Amino acid sequence: RRHVISRRVTRAAVGVVAAATSLVVAAPATAAAGVGSPGLGDPYFPLAGNGGYDVRHYSLDLDYVRAGNHLDASATITARATQDLRRFDLDLRGFTVTRVTVNLLPASFTRDGQELVITPKVPPRRGKTFFVKVEYQGEPTEVIDPDGSSEGWVPTADGAFVVNEPQGSPGWYPANDNPRDKATYDMAITVPKGITAIGNGRLLSRRDHGGKTTWRWYEDSPMAPYLATATNGVFELRVSRAGRIPLYHAVDPAEVPEGAFDVLAIEAEVIEFFSDLYGPYPFSSGGGVVDHAPEVGYALESQTRSQYDSTPSAGTVVHEIAHQWFGNSVTLTVWPDIWLNEGFATFSEWIYDERHGGPTAQASFDQVYARPATSSIWTRPPGNVGGPRFLFSGTVYDRGAATLQALRVKVGDRTFFRILREWYAHNRNGNVTTADFVRLAEKRSGKRLDAFFDTWLYQPAKPTTW
Ligand code: ARG
Ligand code: ZN
Repeated sequence: RRHVISRRVTRAAVGVVAAATSLVVAAPATAAAGVGSPGLGDPYFPLAGNGGYDVRHYSLDLDYVRAGNHLDASATITARATQDLRRFDLDLRGFTVTRVTVNLLPASFTRDGQELVITPKVPPRRGKTFFVKVEYQGEPTEVIDPDGSSEGWVPTADGAFVVNEPQGSPGWYPANDNPRDKATYDMAITVPKGITAIGNGRLLSRRDHGGKTTWRWYEDSPMAPYLATATNGVFELRVSRAGRIPLYHAVDPAEVPEGAFDVLAIEAEVIEFFSDLYGPYPFSSGGGVVDHAPEVGYALESQTRSQYDSTPSAGTVVHEIAHQWFGNSVTLTVWPDIWLNEGFATFSEWIYDERHGGPTAQASFDQVYARPATSSIWTRPPGNVGGPRFLFSGTVYDRGAATLQALRVKVGDRTFFRILREWYAHNRNGNVTTADFVRLAEKRSGKRLDAFFDTWLYQPAKPTTW
């Protein structure tokens, strides 16, 4: 969630994500020739992700020194070929790639924009599991996304703040960078002694050796590449629990006096609240990182480990925790459906307030609805924001949440919360589209809702009747 609008485009190493047209890259035309396509044809980011394989697991070995901003890394990717692969791509920006192997045999490779094009010695056959290892070094490429904000590996005073939505991952690791290819992750992050490195999932070990510390993290639930993190710096780390789930809270000493630990401490109750409302917490760990990274200007729901660029409000913490259900476990398939993430997380803030003695969700709706017809939330429909630079514009949050409250009123509380519970239960660890949601809402309510959703999600005008 954004709390400051920050636009910064002057930087040394910057990879600008091409503002994509709504051109769709055709499904692998060359598949027959054994070449994995360079993109999956997302309407906003056509080259994000690659065709021909499905990643099962990433094993990232990262050695970072902030002085010099140098990353020395290797990534080992376990994947299953969905076609014969004479050649295939990973997404990676910048760095010097020194060696690539496929099934332990050296492979040849070339670079082409964000594509690392790999030609294995022995092509993996369709249906087979294969292993790719990429060794790379250099200064991470900071990615400036089409809305002007920074993402990827963003250096801070004492480490890096690592956030990737939607296009930052290839700025620090080779990925099949598309939300529909989820995988498990383990990370070994080596940093100078005294620095804390926070990955996703559970902390497996922490070992000091010759002036350095290696932190090992393991995320055992499938995760979209944009939700990975490896934020590092000087942090105070506190481990607590929500039931049986370990929570890792890391706070920059500069943010401790701001009350960062106190606001993060609401997490156990928030997890319990949403677990009762939507269904069991999706993951085997939780937590958050409060860094001091004012140049970033937003918070991000990285899986099991939300990232805050400064001490957040309680509302922001509630929002990022709600994303663990909606966004992280139930994930969009294409980026234009972003309201499925942001509208649901914002509605979750509203219902949290309602059930904690604050304003009702209807009162929050009324406040949004009171905005004049000329407001961009009405002229820019949340189901079609018009391009990647509007991905996180107010409409996907506020009109997205209003859409859910309007649905709640239309179908009644019983049916509405049953729809949300089933949405989660049926799509846990999966990918969804707006059409899937409309179908479920129609099925459970027994109502035709196409006109309702069209009015709320796709018309560039303030809804008057629905
Ligand atoms: N998903 C984040 C949130 O609302 C916002 C990410 C914004 N990212 C960006 N590149 N502007 O919780
Ligand atoms: Zn959000």
